[in-house]
Amino acid sequence: DAPETLKSRPPVVAIMGHVDHGKTSLLDALRGTDVVKGEAGGITQHMGAYQIKTKGGDLVTFLDTPGHAAFTQMRMRGANVTDIVILVVAADDGIMPQTIEAINHTKAAGVPMIVAINKIDKHEANAQRVRERLLEHEVVVEAMSGDVQDVEISAKTGVGLDELIEKILLQAELMELKANPDREAEATVIEAKLDKGKGPLATVLVNRGTLKVGDILVVGTESGRVRAMLDDKGRQVKAAPPSMPVEVLGIGGVPMAGDKLTVVESEQRAREVSSYRQEQ
Ligand code: GTP
Ligand code: NA
Ligand code: MG
Repeated sequence: DAPETLKSRPPVVAIMGHVDHGKTSLLDALRGTDVVKGEAGGITQHMGAYQIKTKGGDLVTFLDTPGHAAFTQMRMRGANVTDIVILVVAADDGIMPQTIEAINHTKAAGVPMIVAINKIDKHEANAQRVRERLLEHEVVVEAMSGDVQDVEISAKTGVGLDELIEKILLQAELMELKANPDREAEATVIEAKLDKGKGPLATVLVNRGTLKVGDILVVGTESGRVRAMLDDKGRQVKAAPPSMPVEVLGIGGVPMAGDKLTVVESEQRAREVSSYRQEQ
């Protein structure tokens, strides 16, 4: 086989932290949308996947994760499909149980972390206290002579968001993230559900290759053919290159979050692989 041609791909950035520290608000501010208001009780209960284009034209993929204690599995998965973790810590509330848990998942996954000290607009904000408390969990930020980047932000006023994006892009550049877009796609399921009208729906993140409408696929123990794909704004797309999150229609059943999606050459091959996997 000819050697693969690798091309640079956008970083996949997971936003983690304690409940209500402002993860979804941060994503809203970066995307210019208002997801929080649409959430029941303002609580994130699933992993959202979004791609934004920065002022310089670079793409960054973000995964939103819930801070609620019940969602440990999702945070773990988030850390595992991710290149960079943004640890959001509210400057008024400080280090809390899910902050510590997110630090532990990130370290276990071996993923670089950027600390975003949020809600800096509040009177009670104490960023220095956050930095000091992080030391207790062996997260040493630059301001404390360490090598973990930190930035003070407000998802409410927008302060510090440009600096945060700069730090993400700088970290991504150091990592030289690459994938071959010119091959059959491999992707990871971020979340999946059964939609009454559309049938099984899976939000997947393309790891390598390009996923196309018409592709025959196996995902977990399910198989199917890509009937349509929607981007994070609900627009139909024909192809999804590496690091792009898309919602896939046309899978025979609902796969599980974390399942691997593989494109195969024929429906017969798809059936063989999925029945083999069902027997395991
Ligand atoms: P979960 O998904 O439930 O874990 O919460 P989250 O981390 O996504 O927090 P969310 O974005 O839902 O924000 C929680 C609350 O904090 C909301 O009322 C936001 O309006 C508020 N908030 C978020 N960021 C800021 C900020 O920078 N400043 C101020 N003052 N309030 C903020
Ligand atoms: Na919330
Ligand atoms: Mg949220």
